Amino acid sequence: MKRFYLTTPLYYVNAPPHIGHAYTTIAADVLARFWRSAGRPVHLLTGTDEHGLKIEQAAAAAGLSPLRFSDNISAQFKELWDHLDIRYDDFIRTTEPRHETRVQECFSKLLKSGDVFKGLYRGFYCVSDETYWTETDAAPDEKGRRLCPNPECRKPLQAVEEESYFFRLSKYQQPLLKHYRDNPGFLKPSHRANEILRFVEGGLQDTAISRTKVKWGIPVPGDEAHTVYVWFDALLNYVTAPQSSDAFADIWPADVHIVGKEIYRFHAVTWPAMLMALGLPLPKSVFAHGWWTVEGKKMSKSQGNFVDPRAVTNEFGVDALRYFLLREMPFGNDGDFSQASLKKRYNAELGNDLGNLLNRTVDMVDRYLAGELPRRAAPGESPLAQELSAKQPLLSSRMEELDFSGALGLIWEAIGRLNAEVNAQAPWKLVKTDPAATQRFLFDLVRSLRIIGGWLEPFMPQTSAKMQAQLGMRQTDGGKIQKAPLLFPRKL
Ligand code: MSP
Repeated sequence: MKRFYLTTPLYYVNAPPHIGHAYTTIAADVLARFWRSAGRPVHLLTGTDEHGLKIEQAAAAAGLSPLRFSDNISAQFKELWDHLDIRYDDFIRTTEPRHETRVQECFSKLLKSGDVFKGLYRGFYCVSDETYWTETDAAPDEKGRRLCPNPECRKPLQAVEEESYFFRLSKYQQPLLKHYRDNPGFLKPSHRANEILRFVEGGLQDTAISRTKVKWGIPVPGDEAHTVYVWFDALLNYVTAPQSSDAFADIWPADVHIVGKEIYRFHAVTWPAMLMALGLPLPKSVFAHGWWTVEGKKMSKSQGNFVDPRAVTNEFGVDALRYFLLREMPFGNDGDFSQASLKKRYNAELGNDLGNLLNRTVDMVDRYLAGELPRRAAPGESPLAQELSAKQPLLSSRMEELDFSGALGLIWEAIGRLNAEVNAQAPWKLVKTDPAATQRFLFDLVRSLRIIGGWLEPFMPQTSAKMQAQLGMRQTDGGKIQKAPLLFPRKL
């Protein structure tokens, strides 16, 4: 069966990972886990982007060779993904031979076909964004400075004039527009599609894809004074990585490339044009999510306000971070990461709504049913569990749409429903008059919580496993309840 192939951006190794990187990678992991649990084979690719001037400069500042420097930071990304329970199928580094040789092959192929040609580049370059800008893009400001036009960046640009290889992007304007028209699900979410359409309709210019002044890069085959432009190199990872596996035919093309909104153009315009030029099938969709600010401010070196995911997990646990990131900000929109909001959701939604519900259910089963757990329900036996199961299709469709906060909203509605039902049924009273009804209700409650535990697996794997252990989710033959410490002890 064709695997569900999804990717994250390859993160630059100039600095250690922060919650922005964790966000994208957790989202990809949640989607991957959802598809695996639905029985679909999955291939999740992530990795690190290690060439280019920005890394070269960061390494020099640290007094290390670019490769040694990259080894160190790339390993930090991997360790963090393990710590955050992210299960990827492949991790690619752009400095690996399996990538470098294939990038050179692609370059040669396009040179031969005429989609790559030699010319003279005259314009501007932003090292921080690793992006070329034209004279018009980079018009001087009132002080005569040329700053990066990306509003998130605004760093001074370098003037560049050098011999360069170009990619014939202009040739793909019409094919791209046709592809967007014929595949309405390609540009996601739909509210970001317009920006891409306007840009491509405005005309595409051929883009420079090699540098003579940058040494830290993949040499252009046969013309080693040039190195391949870092974006042209990095984008190709999505194909070079699976090509180095035996399963390429089961993997290609990607079902979704998940990226941040600031690199949407590279993924929605340049990348599909490169694939057209290479004669490879295009991904099914490219999804651009929004950006986090922190306590109302942009995360930046100058602010020194990068949030270290480990600082959050040390205090709240891995699952709370995963939950918060996907619940707080609808996937596709922007949002703010604040300590107050994190603590509030932790205490209210994880501690109270979910944690207490589980805890009191376990207590009541222990106390009123001597710890006896229910078997799988006979039809009609568990109305609440049945009501929850009926929501499965809606939940699945939200997951398929990458509407993670919507899916969590639905799960929390169900949790709210169960809490309300416990209060209404009041088993602590009911048990005095009708033990059989108490058992029926508590069994229904346990079965309902088993369903919730299953739904939570993609988002909070550890919590789901703990619920499973307490409620005997795998058991079809009853068994005994396991008491355990609170899932989310209150934080003051
Ligand atoms: N190396 C390029 C991508 C090449 S893909 C072939 C790059 N790397 S990056 O290290 O800057 O990572 C950018 C990505 O990190 C964003 O697209 C997004 O996925 C994630 N984020 C970084 N900061 C973020 C926020 N503040 N908020 C949300 N996501 C953020 O660009």
